[in-house]
Amino acid sequence: MTPMNLKQRDKKHLWHPLKQHQLNPESLAIVKAKGCILTDENGNEYIDAIASWYTCMYGHCNDYIIDATHKQMQQLDQVMFSDFTHEPAIKLSEALINILPKNQNKIYFNDNGSTAVESGIKMALQYYFNKKDKRSTFIAFENGFHGDTFGAMSVSGLSVYNGPFEEFLIDVQRIPTPNGSNTQNILKQLEDYISNHHIAGFIYEPLIQGAAGMKTHDADGLNSILEYCKNHDILTIADEVMTGFGKTGKYFASDYIDTKPDIICLSKALTAGLIPMAITSCTQDIYNAFLSNDMAKGFFHCHTYSGNPVACAAAIAGIELLISEEIQNNIKNISSNHKAFLKRIKNHSKIKTTRHIGVILAIDLNTKMERYGSLRDKLLTFFMDRGVFLRPLGNTIYIQVPYVISNAELQQVYQAIEDVLEIV
Ligand SMILES: Cc1ncc(COP(=O)(O)O)c(C=O)c1O
Repeated sequence: MTPMNLKQRDKKHLWHPLKQHQLNPESLAIVKAKGCILTDENGNEYIDAIASWYTCMYGHCNDYIIDATHKQMQQLDQVMFSDFTHEPAIKLSEALINILPKNQNKIYFNDNGSTAVESGIKMALQYYFNKKDKRSTFIAFENGFHGDTFGAMSVSGLSVYNGPFEEFLIDVQRIPTPNGSNTQNILKQLEDYISNHHIAGFIYEPLIQGAAGMKTHDADGLNSILEYCKNHDILTIADEVMTGFGKTGKYFASDYIDTKPDIICLSKALTAGLIPMAITSCTQDIYNAFLSNDMAKGFFHCHTYSGNPVACAAAIAGIELLISEEIQNNIKNISSNHKAFLKRIKNHSKIKTTRHIGVILAIDLNTKMERYGSLRDKLLTFFMDRGVFLRPLGNTIYIQVPYVISNAELQQVYQAIEDVLEIV
């Protein structure tokens, strides 16, 4: 009997995320990744044009990051972060505070983007609870996405994921994203919410909503919302899980906005795709609200692998690469290539709108939006057949390439998109 390949063995015991197995039982088996290239079990190669969900921004199996983690593995693999500390966590906190917006001063470890958000939500609720000011409601943007744990699902506006759980979610009031002409209406809406609810915080994806389809919004409008929140004692939580670490052309999307958030959620590119980890950073003022002689006023949210030394080593190496001249130049180069590409294709009859910030580029096709429909499957298959891994969000095609992509690889990604315009 011929042995089963990975694709066949997968079907026996594995349950994949974001998948309806009855409609789509197969998963492609990837056996190798290096730089921007993924290789499947049959030896086919694909350019990873979304950096495996925006994680591997310095390229897959990056030698510099592997060396740093390998050294750390031989020194200290794992130790509890409650009661103990270690140099990798300390060095990472110093490196992060150096690049985060200047009002951030404390670093709290989590495991993934959702739990970074969960911690941010709990910090905001307990901040007020500790001050004997019980608050229960959050404000969030329509169509935001913040993760899949209960708090993160609550503040997410994409109900396609939340349906079965809606009655268990915390109270959230929604506002539209600012578009340059609706800011006064949004501020009026905020005023109404503040009069009728005990608002703890406002959570937002700064400048660009990823899962919504890489939808951008107006920076001035966002700044006015943040200012309004600050003036009305509402904590602001920037979810930079997607936007963090250079994707928008600055270290963080919050760097484009004058009013800085009280809390920032980080993950994905934090550890360069090598090891899962997340961080929730906050201001000294938030941290101070948890200081007390009363144990119960501390923050009792903990994950077993908090501050894992090997993950910290990956994150430190990632930040070293991010701030290097080479990566900063690469980001500028990708951004200007994106600009030229969009200029070339933006008037194509199949294109409705385009967006571009830093290494993120998005194109809305002139077709009906269908999040998981036949068009999206057709596009995905078309791209894979051309050796490019792009994962359209409904009728939105987006690119978020690793910073180490070569010009030839980038042109191959653009060509695949130009070709797909001829078949939709
Ligand atoms: C903005 C944002 N927040 C949170 C999350 C959740 O992160 P994770 O999938 O690591 O839980 C995501 C994931 O895509 C995200 O894009």
